[in-house]
Amino acid sequence: MAVYHQRDVLQNLLSQQKERGRTIGLVPTMGALHEGHLSLVAQSARENDITVVSIFVNPTQFDNKDDLQKYPRSLEEDTRKLYAENPNVLIFAPEVEDVYSDTVRSDHFDFDGLEFQMEGKFRKGHFDGVGTIVKRLFEIVKPDNAYFGEKDYQQLLIVKTMVEKHHIPVQIHGCPIKREENGLAMSSRNKRLPEQLRREAGFIFEVLQQARENFKIQTPEAVKEVIVQRFEEHPEFKLEYVEIADTNTLEPALHKEKDKKYRAFIAVYADEVRLIDNIALN
Ligand code: PAF
Repeated sequence: MAVYHQRDVLQNLLSQQKERGRTIGLVPTMGALHEGHLSLVAQSARENDITVVSIFVNPTQFDNKDDLQKYPRSLEEDTRKLYAENPNVLIFAPEVEDVYSDTVRSDHFDFDGLEFQMEGKFRKGHFDGVGTIVKRLFEIVKPDNAYFGEKDYQQLLIVKTMVEKHHIPVQIHGCPIKREENGLAMSSRNKRLPEQLRREAGFIFEVLQQARENFKIQTPEAVKEVIVQRFEEHPEFKLEYVEIADTNTLEPALHKEKDKKYRAFIAVYADEVRLIDNIALN
């Protein structure tokens, strides 16, 4: 398996392959790979001749220095996992300077208001950081297809919007959330959870499933209230926000409208670890 640290070397190889008509799939990651990532890699490998997995902990999308510092990094283990999944995958693991030259700063984006909802309210500058790195990765790899997990649903919509607005010729694919046995959405951050708490964190998905049931007969406001109450009964999980929002615009749902699709979104602190999850409600 080839690991590329320098973008020029990777670009040379990819442009030769493109000339031969080969298609390229990109799976952008920050490493600490889990089965969720591997499912994206498997889909890309099925749908493209070449799959590139980028592994880069992007400093500009962290609003919290401590979170950036503690973000798990495990390139060797990641390489082993990818090799076991598919020995033909190419890994792109650049250094910060290779991506950002000498100014490690985000560009500013307009994502049609998606950036002001939920994660955007609680993580200042986060989506400018995501937009910056994803756009640069697209410029470097020039993929035909790129794969993102639905756990970061807001990120997925933001990337789709960026691609449209900047006329970037790549097809964006959203892939279903992978869950641990107890229902906890897979995330690189789960590694940081104490074992007991990780076991109990199935509670988050349980509450989301209950919300989906309640949504059949309750107003969005009432559904949110039940979620808030359930978290009050479980103080080991601190609810940062819960929102019920339109699946396309992410505008909070004040009431249910026929023909519209909604999702419930949640951000929770377990210990110091921030977890997010979401579920389709109808
Ligand atoms: O979802 C992630 O892991 C990151 O936000 C991404 C898309 C790799 C950009 O750094």
